[in-house]
Amino acid sequence: MQMDEVARRGLVLLGCGKMGSAMLAGWLEGGLPKQSVTVLDPKPSEWLQKQGVRLNEELPEDPAIVLVAVKPQMMGDALPSMQAKGNGSTLFVSVAAGTPIATFEQALGESTPIVRAMPNTPSAIGRGITAIIGNAHATPEQVDLAEELLRAVGQVVRLESEDQMDGVTAVSGSGPAYVFHLIETMAKAGEEQGLSPELALQLATATVAGAGALADGSDEHPGKLRENVTSPNGTTQAALDVLMNEKDGFPVLLSRALKAAADRSRELANG
Ligand SMILES: NC(=O)c1ccc[n+]([C@@H]2O[C@H](COP(=O)([O-])OP(=O)(O)OC[C@H]3O[C@@H](n4cnc5c(N)ncnc54)[C@H](OP(=O)(O)O)[C@@H]3O)[C@@H](O)[C@H]2O)c1
Repeated sequence: MQMDEVARRGLVLLGCGKMGSAMLAGWLEGGLPKQSVTVLDPKPSEWLQKQGVRLNEELPEDPAIVLVAVKPQMMGDALPSMQAKGNGSTLFVSVAAGTPIATFEQALGESTPIVRAMPNTPSAIGRGITAIIGNAHATPEQVDLAEELLRAVGQVVRLESEDQMDGVTAVSGSGPAYVFHLIETMAKAGEEQGLSPELALQLATATVAGAGALADGSDEHPGKLRENVTSPNGTTQAALDVLMNEKDGFPVLLSRALKAAADRSRELANG
């Protein structure tokens, strides 16, 4: 199933907040006809009202895809209106954090094709990464289609089983917040070394962004990139001796932090 089939049968976007708007912008830029998109959202933003899509109108008879982008806590209100499209050839794709495939199967029917996706916030600038997994009723073509749609906001990776979602949530889903905190704490530590708050923040932000771009664009493993910039007994080495300390450095700290996130993700999935 390709995008021309989406254009013909229609796409329904349920919930058009931050994540829904980022995806919609990508699809429209990619050439999906406006009139093929039906958006349901109780309080459409000004941006959305100007897009020329079908807004809060009747649903197409047999849409190719329904993309669910409401908050997990709104799912109970939002899904029943979609029940008539379940158990058929309409693919449901959900980006809701922590809502398992089983919840959709219960609400929409056991034989509904469903793809669960976990994006992250850099999707807002097209630099996200989304992990996806389909249920038994999602055909390989439908999983390909979900991947193509989600590529509008960044990279897409495929999982082998749904329980990997907890690890994905811990690394990439919650990860942007760890990086923001890294920037914050690097800037604070820079202030302790005599820099002004503005200068320290600018240096820390640009360093994280620049090093991230370097790692992203390089074929080298980040460990090798680190070694390349660490001269023996130099300044970087002095800091890395602290950060790489086996007792209280990054390795143990991040291991604890990611375990806490994954544990919480499992707890939330179990209600
Ligand atoms: N933002 C991210 O980077 C990110 C990352 C990973 C996963 N996600 C997932 O993406 C989903 C959306 O997140 P978001 O950040 O885009 O949230 P958001 O900005 O709050 O967007 C949700 C949108 O859905 C609307 N809505 C609420 N109830 C509805 C209903 N019954 N029918 C149709 N629309 C309804 C909301 O309208 P009101 O404002 O009127 O309530 C809002 O416009 C969440 O499930 C979240 O877990 C987001």
